[in-house]
Amino acid sequence: MKVLVTGGAGYIGSHTCIELIKNGYEIVVVDNFVNSHPKAVERVKKITGVDFPFYDMDLLDAPALDNVCKAHKIDCIVHFAGLKAVGESVAKPLEYYENNLCSTMNLLKTMADYDIRHMVFSSSATVYSGDNPMPLTEDSNRGCINPYGWTKYMCEQIISDWVAAKENASAVLLRYFNPIGAHESGLIGDDPAGIPNNLLPYITQAAAGKLPELPVTGADYDTPDGTGIRDYLHVTDLAAGHVAAIKFAEKNKNAHAFNLGTGKGVSVFEMIHAFEKVNGVKVPYRVVDRRPGDQPVSFADPSKATKLLNWQTEKSLEEALGDMWRWQTNNPNGYTG
Ligand code: NAD
Ligand code: WQD
Repeated sequence: MKVLVTGGAGYIGSHTCIELIKNGYEIVVVDNFVNSHPKAVERVKKITGVDFPFYDMDLLDAPALDNVCKAHKIDCIVHFAGLKAVGESVAKPLEYYENNLCSTMNLLKTMADYDIRHMVFSSSATVYSGDNPMPLTEDSNRGCINPYGWTKYMCEQIISDWVAAKENASAVLLRYFNPIGAHESGLIGDDPAGIPNNLLPYITQAAAGKLPELPVTGADYDTPDGTGIRDYLHVTDLAAGHVAAIKFAEKNKNAHAFNLGTGKGVSVFEMIHAFEKVNGVKVPYRVVDRRPGDQPVSFADPSKATKLLNWQTEKSLEEALGDMWRWQTNNPNGYTG
């Protein structure tokens, strides 16, 4: 089976390419490196020992996408490509709507042209509104507070409507919670451009002295230690979820959403202390004001994925923190170093 991986040079995409190859899939990868580096592709090939076709192209370039699908008999698309910075999406909404929605619609049109019947889509827990009791299920209320979240919400709807109009098509909408960690080799990992938005890359860079200290954005939430609680899962477990999703897509029709998370919440202070204990380093931090729009608590009920995808997280938080630190220390300046 041949899988087209869009955004395969990115953090989650590169880890999923490894899992797909490990599970015997042929892959074709496209990426325009708007938020990644060619070295990531080279390192996936080094880790797996497998060469595969790679196209440096923008999914907004429909003729380029058509050429790829003309050259390769694609059976399934795993669609990671997208802009994902919440704050940037508020500043540049049209760029986010154009990139994330038009790339997805180009893929769906190409799927129709080449009778590609299955898609696995990178959605996000960010589609859930803030008025839900925890844990979040796939039926929890949805609603977004930033353009990025709305692009995920709208892409889910566009994909679902397209699949419903097709015979024998299927889509799996994976709502990721908070992926962390890195491949055990230390050769690939999360390599955010500029100042990290997310907690874990910020922690690793503060611990490494690349940044002076971690700003703990709020310690006055209604949580046991006052800091925000999230559901952090190892990126390799998340990658394995895509293999399970492809298998499900092949056997089912229509669109199906799944939460991919551990089902457990971890606070910022708990994360700092765990990171320090696992890696024997200090994480300098300072409590600052809350980030606008942040939810106090968000974690998954992953039981639907366990039941229908036969998927659950396997790796521990401690493994993820050790793997993340190995990536950071081996690559102090990410892929550009
Ligand atoms: P990433 O930025 O590392 O990877 C996305 C990749 O897509 C990058 O390599 C980028 O260059 C590529 N890309 C973007 N637009 C493109 C285009 N028009 N044409 C070709 N390539 C394009 O992000 P990630 O963390 O690996 O996330 C992958 C997907 O999962 C994204 O859609 C993101 O929104 C979603 N997601 C991420 C998280 C997270 O915390 N990392 C959580 C939930 C959902
Ligand atoms: C986690 C916790 C912060 C940074 C975001 C996006 C979401 C998804 C995953 C794409 C929160 C705290 C953070 C910092 C901190 N991405 N924090 N200092 O906010 O759950 O989700 O990434 O889909 O769309 O919104 O993850 O890592 O940004 O924050 O104290 O410098 O860490 O307040 O409690 P979040 P995060």
